[in-house]
Amino acid sequence: MTRIIVLTGAGISAESGVPTFRGAGGLWEGHRVEDVATPEAFAADPETVQRFYDARRRAVASVAPNPAHHALAALERAIGDDLLVVTQNIDDLHERAGSSRVLHMHGELGRARCAACGERPPVQDDLLPGPPCPACGERMLRPDVVWFGELPYGLDEIDAALAACDVFVAIGTSGAVYPAAGFVLTASALGASTLELNLAESEITPFFAESRLGPASVLVPEWVRELLAAPSRTT
Ligand code: OAD
Repeated sequence: MTRIIVLTGAGISAESGVPTFRGAGGLWEGHRVEDVATPEAFAADPETVQRFYDARRRAVASVAPNPAHHALAALERAIGDDLLVVTQNIDDLHERAGSSRVLHMHGELGRARCAACGERPPVQDDLLPGPPCPACGERMLRPDVVWFGELPYGLDEIDAALAACDVFVAIGTSGAVYPAAGFVLTASALGASTLELNLAESEITPFFAESRLGPASVLVPEWVRELLAAPSRTT
């Protein structure tokens, strides 16, 4: 059985119309993501930070998964538990394409976190008006996203999966943010084969055994077709 970890970044959602963080169009109202995605930024100017995430939540609600998300969902239907998608994305496009084994290591736009009671309620609307927490009633909800300086979700589960995987694939991530950028080194040190699918070379391209350049909407379906057609596949 092949155990596959797919790490996704903003590039897989780019063709759905969700802007990436870095590169052209990567600024939001003149802010770098590092300037709005920190606990310090939230403490200093909560309104600007809430507006940033409210705008992204609204933008994501109006777009749809693209062929790359659909191909990963098809791969999960074919190999089930042998696939884990670890995403840095806070959108829900993997789930809307049909994937269920998705670990959101940087959190989700579709959840809030209550600073008063710790509850993580689902959220669809803007957080800027300061709605009350459905659990405790306090108006202290923040986006349930991981900011710079905070610990990503699921690191123990990811470490265990990296240790057990045979294949590690990174799709549409710049490799600028750790710990995700280091997963390829862990996976290859532990014996996995490694493949990068990206529109352009990334900061971590040299760490992969193989790197394919092109849009995710083309490369991901191609790779999934190859994998499912391979004679050595035992699942
Ligand atoms: P980035 O915006 O840093 O990088 C996007 C990557 O996607 C780049 O390497 C592009 O070449 C690639 N790309 C763009 N369009 C593509 C396409 N159509 N097909 C394939 N690849 C494409 O996004 P991430 O690497 O996801 O964290 O950023 C990592 C983290 O930085 C984010 O999760 C976020 C951000 O700060 C937090 O907010 C904690």
